[in-house]
Amino acid sequence: MEKLARPVIAGNWKMHKTISEARHLAADIVSQAASLSQASLILIPPFTAIQEVKKTVSGSHLLVGGQDLFWEEEGAFTGEISARQLKEAGCDVVIVGHSERRQYFGETDETVKKKVLAALRHELRPIVCIGENLEERKSGETLKKIKSQLENGLFGLPAEDFSQVILAYEPIWAIGTGQNATPEQAEEVHSYIRQLIDVNYGQELAACAIILYGGSVKPANAFSLIKEKDIDGFLVGGASLQAESFMGIVSEACRADEG
Ligand code: 13P
Repeated sequence: MEKLARPVIAGNWKMHKTISEARHLAADIVSQAASLSQASLILIPPFTAIQEVKKTVSGSHLLVGGQDLFWEEEGAFTGEISARQLKEAGCDVVIVGHSERRQYFGETDETVKKKVLAALRHELRPIVCIGENLEERKSGETLKKIKSQLENGLFGLPAEDFSQVILAYEPIWAIGTGQNATPEQAEEVHSYIRQLIDVNYGQELAACAIILYGGSVKPANAFSLIKEKDIDGFLVGGASLQAESFMGIVSEACRADEG
């Protein structure tokens, strides 16, 4: 799989945008993205719009991703989608274990692991989401939760596989709330994640690992967040639904990189 340049900014469109709306948004983003080619940009539309978005970004440096996948190769699994189907539709990456999947659709660390393996079998780079809820943060259990999600869902993987995984720290209390983690709060968790990777896979892999932050990222807070040593980019929800705010985040992230 292709190596991704930092910063990595991914837009998770969740259950928004029809095919034609997706085409317009992707076209707007492409037209503004040419001057910011140092960043790796990933658009993650709903399944129905993947092919259209892929067509729209072709010829640019933008990548396309899926929001979820099932771990079986094919079969009688109504409503599910496989890694092979995503790959052929034009995906290079796929989100696994988003907190909304965990909360509403019963995703667990065990299913995350199966999905990661299925993605890797088909050369799809998984973006694995982890993060604590408000209660866990308030009771001082944030790092414990992060550690258990990583140990149960990922750290059994061989180094070669783990090296392809992108991690996204998304504190659940910050998603869609307008209340982002402060740069200090996010950095504490990001540096802890890198430390755990170091312990499990060694320094080289820890240094190369891409760890995104997600949760109410917007142009106004992107610069201060990306300035932190262990924040390599963002997984953006709400602000990725308009070209102006998404590209505002991208340009703030690139500005921090230059300065
Ligand atoms: P918001 O940016 O809307 O808080 O969503 C974050 C997210 O869940 C991205 O996957």
